[in-house]
Amino acid sequence: MRIFLDTANIDQIRKAARLGVVSGITTNPTLVAKEGSADYQAVIKEICSIIPGSVSTEVLAEETEAILKQARDIATWAPNVAIKIPATTVGLEATSVLASEKIEVNFTLCFSLNQALLGALAGATYVSIFVGRLDDAGHDGMEIVKDTVEVFKQYELSTQVIAASIRHPQHCLAAARAGAHIATVPYKVLMQMIEHPLTDIGIARFLDDWRRLSSG
Ligand code: G3P
Repeated sequence: MRIFLDTANIDQIRKAARLGVVSGITTNPTLVAKEGSADYQAVIKEICSIIPGSVSTEVLAEETEAILKQARDIATWAPNVAIKIPATTVGLEATSVLASEKIEVNFTLCFSLNQALLGALAGATYVSIFVGRLDDAGHDGMEIVKDTVEVFKQYELSTQVIAASIRHPQHCLAAARAGAHIATVPYKVLMQMIEHPLTDIGIARFLDDWRRLSSG
C-alpha cells in the first residue's frame, strides 16, 4: 500500500517528503482554506514542485462544462496534478471526458461500491472512499474499501482505490489489510504510524547501558 499525505500544509509536506515514504498528496477546498491562502493555484503549484507524485486538486464547479473548463486549466498547472471530481452524475460525465483526454481523475467523495465502480468504468485513475465519514455515519467504511478492491481485481479494473478520510493509525492498518492501493493520511496520523513507546523505551535503555559501560 502506498501512502499519500492528506494536507495542503507546505511545512508538513516538506517534512513528510524528507521521510521518503510519501508518494502523493491529496487536497480539498477545506484543507486549502485551512492554510489561509486565497491563491489556490500558487499553493498547488508549490506542492507539485515538492512532491513528484500525484497531487489531487479539487474542482469547485457544479456543471459539466464548468468542471471541464476548470479541470483542463488545473491540468496545465503542473504535470503531476490529478483532478478531484465528486461522485455525482455530472462528475461521472466529466470524468469520462477527462479520462479520454488522458487527464488523471481522482473520483472523490465515494461512499459506496456502486459509486466507486462507476468512477472506474468512466476511467478515473483513482477512486477515494471516505472511510472516516462512513464510520461517522454508522457504517463500516473499510468494508467498502475491501469490497471495492475485490471487485476491481475480479474485473481487472486498473483504477486505484484510495482509503481517504483516515482518522487514526488503526485505519491505516485496516486499509493495508483491505488491500487499498493507497491510504491518504493526515500528517498527525503519519507521525502516529512511526511512533511507538516501546521503541522510545528501547532506545533509552540502549543509551543508558552504553553510557554505563563507557563510564565504568
Ligand atoms: O481525504 C479526505 C479527507 O480530507 C476528509 O477527511 O476527516 O474531513 O473526513 P475528513
